[in-house]
Order: sequence, then structure tokens, then C-alpha cells
Amino acid sequence: MSTGRIYIYKRYERFWHWSQAALIIIMMITGFEIHGSYALLGFGKAVSVHTVAAWSLLLLWAFTIFWQFTTGEWRQYLPSMKNVLAMVNYYTIGIFRNSPHPFHKTARHKHNPLQRLAYLALLAFISPLIWVSGLLYLFYGNWGQLGLAQYLSLESVALAHTIGAFMITAFFFIHVYLTTTGHTVFAHIKAMITGWEESDQPH
Ligand code: HEM
Repeated sequence: MSTGRIYIYKRYERFWHWSQAALIIIMMITGFEIHGSYALLGFGKAVSVHTVAAWSLLLLWAFTIFWQFTTGEWRQYLPSMKNVLAMVNYYTIGIFRNSPHPFHKTARHKHNPLQRLAYLALLAFISPLIWVSGLLYLFYGNWGQLGLAQYLSLESVALAHTIGAFMITAFFFIHVYLTTTGHTVFAHIKAMITGWEESDQPH
């Protein structure tokens, strides 16, 4: 029963989402090669690709932060504790019993309450951890000049970056699983490609 169709994701938003996804996948693959988990490109090549992807992501974020503020879309990330429990109940129990989804997307409210909290945690905690440790790693050769050498050790920066990398990898897999929980398996993915989401709710 498909009765509603709403436009949720704007063109730039879809571009930003998929470019960020591609860059993060590249960073996970090359990052864990640098870490020594496997050999794919060779260490030197993995470091170069990881570095180019990091600068590209930084550029993408600069444009995206500008876009979030000029369009007012940043408000989508404001957290609210209302109905978070309903979402937790749905994902742990309701979804396996075919219960109705407790949240219905609109263009003004794209994210369910649990999603808001998860994205805020990504923005406020995991991303800064990865960025600060990544940039310190990148500028390791300049620590002396910057007056940082006495406060930092390469081991602690590497550990912080690796912890951040595991966190974002966990986020990535949970995120991909949750994309399949729309009214059909690919409903959310399709919406992020076309901008339009079909729902089983009358609109
Ligand atoms: C977004 C997801 C990212 C993931 C999953 C990731 C993952 C990793 C991992 C697992 C390592 C190996 C750490 C070790 O064993 O010591 C690494 C190294 C590194 N990462 Fe990332 N990283 C990401 C983002 C970034 C960013 C944003 C930057 C820069 C701003 C960055 C810069 C670096 C540098 C410079 C190294 C060390 C390369 C070397 O040994 O020469 N990474 N990354």
C-alpha cells in the first residue's frame, strides 16, 4: 500500500551525502591498511590516498557547513529526548513484530529522535576526535615548530585516531543496517538517490 510521496532530500544534500560516504569508505579502507590490518595498495600509496581523501573531506565539509547554515537545515540536528524510547522499542522489538514505525518523516523533520542523537554524537564527538588526531598525525613533522612536541606523543595520537576510526566504522555499519528499515528494504536508499521518499502513510 503506497499512498504518499514526499520530497525530502535536496540536490546538494544528496551530493554531499554520497560524496561523504565515498570518502569515508576510502578512508576506512586505506586507514586500516595503514594500521597494518591488511595489505592492499601498499603502505605508501595507502597513506597518499588517505591524505588526499582527508583534504577532500575537509573541503566538502566547508561547503556543507555553509549550506547547512544558509538553508537553516542545521536545525535538523537539534536533539530532542521526546520519543527516543519509542524508537528504541521499535528497533529492538516492534520492527520484528511488524509494528508501525513510530516516526513519519517530513521535509522539516527528516530524522527520527534517535537519529538526531546519533548524528549529534557523530558531529560533536566522533568527528572532532578523528579530525583533531588526524590533523596532528598529518602535521607530526611540525610539532616542534608548533610548540606541541612536549605535550604529545605519537602513540597517544595514533591511539586516539584508531579509536575514532573504530567508532566511525561501527557507526557506518549500524547506519547501513538502519537504512534498510524503511517500509521497504531500499526505500530510504532510494530517497537519498532521488530525493523522494514513498511512504505507506497517506500524505
Ligand atoms: C573518516 C574516517 C577515517 C578513518 C576510518 C581513518 C582511519 C585511520 C586509521 C585506522 C589509521 C591508522 C592508525 C594507526 O594505526 O596508527 C589512520 C592513519 C592516519 N590518518 Fe586517518 N582515518 C580517518 C580520517 C582521517 C582524517 C580526517 C585525517 C586528517 C585530517 C586522517 C589522517 C591520518 C593520518 C595522517 C594517518 C597516519 C598516516 C601515516 O602513518 O603516515 N585520517 N587513519
